Amino acid sequence: MTKDTQKERFTRWGMVKYFMHGCTRFFIFSIVASFLVTILEMLIPQIIRSTVDSVIGDKPFAFPAVVNGWISDIGGAPYLRTHLWVISITIIVMALFVALFRYATNQLNSIAAERLQQNMRDKLFSHIQKLPFTWHMQNKTGDIIQRCTSDVERVRIFIAEQLVSVVRIVIMMILSLFFMFSMDLRLGAVAAATVPVIIAYSGFFFSRIGRHFKECDDNEGILSTIAQENLTGVRVVRAFGREDYERKRFEKQNTYYTGLWVHLMKLMSYFWGAGDLITGIQVVLVLSLGSAFCVHGTLTTGEFIAFLTYNGMLIWPVRQLGRVISEMSKAGVSIDRIRYIMNTPEEKDRPDATEPDMHQDITFDHVTFSYEENVPVVKDVSFTVKAGTTFGILGSTGSGKSTLMHLLDRLYDLPEGSGSIRIGDTDIRDIKAQYLRRNIGMVLQEPYLFSRTIGENISITDRSMPMSDIRTAARLASVDDAITGFKNGYDTMVGERGVTLSGGQKQRTAIARMLTQKAPIMVFDDSLSAVDAETDAKIRSALNRHLKDSTVILIAHRVTTLMNADKIMVMDKGKIVEMGTPDELMAKGGVYKRIYDMQLTMSEDDVFTGNPFEEVEAENAAKAAGRDAAAETDDKPGKNASGNSAAVKEV
Ligand SMILES: Nc1ncnc2c1ncn2[C@@H]1O[C@H](COP(=O)(O)OP(=O)(O)OP(=O)(O)O)[C@@H](O)[C@H]1O
Ligand SMILES: [Mg+2]
Repeated sequence: MTKDTQKERFTRWGMVKYFMHGCTRFFIFSIVASFLVTILEMLIPQIIRSTVDSVIGDKPFAFPAVVNGWISDIGGAPYLRTHLWVISITIIVMALFVALFRYATNQLNSIAAERLQQNMRDKLFSHIQKLPFTWHMQNKTGDIIQRCTSDVERVRIFIAEQLVSVVRIVIMMILSLFFMFSMDLRLGAVAAATVPVIIAYSGFFFSRIGRHFKECDDNEGILSTIAQENLTGVRVVRAFGREDYERKRFEKQNTYYTGLWVHLMKLMSYFWGAGDLITGIQVVLVLSLGSAFCVHGTLTTGEFIAFLTYNGMLIWPVRQLGRVISEMSKAGVSIDRIRYIMNTPEEKDRPDATEPDMHQDITFDHVTFSYEENVPVVKDVSFTVKAGTTFGILGSTGSGKSTLMHLLDRLYDLPEGSGSIRIGDTDIRDIKAQYLRRNIGMVLQEPYLFSRTIGENISITDRSMPMSDIRTAARLASVDDAITGFKNGYDTMVGERGVTLSGGQKQRTAIARMLTQKAPIMVFDDSLSAVDAETDAKIRSALNRHLKDSTVILIAHRVTTLMNADKIMVMDKGKIVEMGTPDELMAKGGVYKRIYDMQLTMSEDDVFTGNPFEEVEAENAAKAAGRDAAAETDDKPGKNASGNSAAVKEV
């Protein structure tokens, strides 16, 4: 992950507030309801205490004056003694309210948490859609998905389950201690003394266990990556007979992962066991001292019963506090991981961005570009594609052809001072990005089809596209016959990453999809490589008829694909090595001619081992050195035993 150096858009809390938009009131009501539950629960032991001491016993009531007033109004202790059901009803009514408020707490909290999660997913997805292409290239898809799923879930769990608990735990601790101290200072101090011990112990334990949880998380990630790679790369695994190896690799990781969990569970058992021991000692202390105070008459029986109840109420939240603290730190990590995405600036047009006519010449003017600093893959390239013409690009692999098209589509922005790309007179950086991309139809070198029907894949730019338009595009791309041959025709589902289609069918479907865009500029990046020469010619002649007004950029490794282009540019190692009409290039007798000869005249039995780019480069160097090397190297075009075999694949 790259570090975002820009001013951060969100702080931790700022982002939580942003996601909570629209569900804050549910959280507030849920916290209020939880507060009421806790208060009511805390009052019930006071009623029991007074019943024992003042109704069964004869001590005066220890309630506030107002409550004492109500009791004397209905007849005081003598009345209650003969009407015990009044106390029962009071407790039942309070319990009913506890149940009602608890229901409201859970209900409101679930609504708030689910809405919060929905907000988080929606806002993250929408933000990611607007992030620059370079960001997607720099970040691993699996990691982004994990941030949008596991991290979102962890934040939801924390906010849904822990945030309300924090409020409840704090109120319970304060009120229990308050009531305990108000009944007996000494016993209150004994009960309170263990609180810091338990909190420190839980905090220490959960911070230690947090590391183990992280290790489990990381190893779960490794396990799912192995599974995911095997599913996606199933063909490679089968083709190379690696099933056993992959199974063993998975089993090894699975065993390790299981071991981690077993160890973690062991630690958890120690924790709960030791925690029970500490709290057990505390209870024994309170019980023994409390009994002694009762016997000596410094504590009433009612107070002692109430005290024990409050002590129980104190221990639970104290033990939970350690967990809440550790969950809070885990949620903090997740919030930061989500914040990394939300703080990445969206792709934005310049304020004065325009929408110029796209039926104009395309000019690359001294363009230099590097993906990684100081490693240029395109070096000072200048050329013009005349509007309405077909421009062919031929070149060795890695020579920068696709890069030029990515730059034209502004998937990568050309930095200032690295030349410019213009449509007519407008620099493409001054054109609205969406407008530019809408007007440049691009069939990428590795077409991607969605797991939807073929019809939906073709009509992706306009879901209301009539079937006739879809079929016209498919016919032009010579794929209509193949599609109608499927049982479900255009409703055939394309499997994950289009596995049910052959490579050629996939390429042609991508061409059809691009054609529906009806863009004035169309780019075919090696888009006919997976179809046979005959289909290639058929598609090109259909396109020629149909795309008369469009500017077409055709990248190919097959010379025949480019033969009818108005102009051809030949590239090698990021530079232009030749440019001209096909006839001019043939007459010139350079790289283009050699590739032509090699591809069109070699019989299948010929083994070609040379590289026309290197040959011409060597010849030129030799010529420059004043030697005539042509006779030595070009006896038979395209054949050179000393070259390397990569050229067969390259051209
Ligand atoms: N996203 C990227 N990050 C870093 N380097 C890249 C990236 N994309 C391409 N490159 C490098 O840039 C160089 C040019 O790649 P490019 O894809 O433009 O070549 P190409 O001419 O289209 O090749 P091919 O004919 O094989 O499609 C290559 O050396 C490649 O490794
Ligand atoms: Mg390419």
